Amino acid sequence: MAKITPPQIIEMKRKGEKITVLTAYDYPTARIVDGAGIDILLVGDSLGMVCLGYPDTVSVTMEEMLHHTAAVARGTENGLIVADMPFLSYHVSIPEAIANAGRFLKEARADCVKLEGGVRMAPTVKAIVEAGIPVMGHIGLTPQTATQLGGFTVQGREEGAAKELIADARALEDAGAFSIVIECVPQELSGRITDEVSIPTIGIGAGLQCDGQVLVLHDLVGLFDRFLPKFVKQYADASALIREAVESYKGDVQSGAFPAKEHTF
Ligand code: KIV
Repeated sequence: MAKITPPQIIEMKRKGEKITVLTAYDYPTARIVDGAGIDILLVGDSLGMVCLGYPDTVSVTMEEMLHHTAAVARGTENGLIVADMPFLSYHVSIPEAIANAGRFLKEARADCVKLEGGVRMAPTVKAIVEAGIPVMGHIGLTPQTATQLGGFTVQGREEGAAKELIADARALEDAGAFSIVIECVPQELSGRITDEVSIPTIGIGAGLQCDGQVLVLHDLVGLFDRFLPKFVKQYADASALIREAVESYKGDVQSGAFPAKEHTF
């Protein structure tokens, strides 16, 4: 199977095919997610929280994102790889944003980048796209600037705020983004945005009407135990499974049951 491209993702919206997106952060998770046939592997800056133990996504650095994106690229054959641009890697100036976006393609072999923000970030998105780098937008609850938004709360509940989010989505489409993540907004609003733009919307906590869905892999499989957002469906308890295996190993070593004859030269 050939690698999925941004035009194919846009075509999926036109055909009414739902787009599947999941985060991946390293070689083994990329092999699992890509092997399962997920369309887009997002190396999210949620990396900072679920893999690196930071309290939020603000501290994540370019070097950390590049290191993990390169590992995901080595484990991916078909899925489109989107690398999240970390906080302040695209805010200082447009030339710096282009240079940092370019590092994800040149050094880490990502296919695209994602950045947070709508109308305010549209000129930056346009410049990165014009440099030949596909961009995924991200509006609604934008975790890098959650403090400014008043915390991790549902966005766009008031009509004024809803109109601003619709304007954000339009600005990203006009700037050349190939898709938009919509995080934590009421379903009715994400449906309106999805109808307004011709590029796909990818929802997280945004209801059924988006063109696709994204979740953090570690939430989906139960590997992150600090908190579980309301919008997550947990499909497995991998923490319990791994802990059970580790405890069995410990018991076997202590009792002398491991290594057995078949593990011994
Ligand atoms: O960093 C991330 O994982 C994300 C998704 C939640 C959309 O941005």
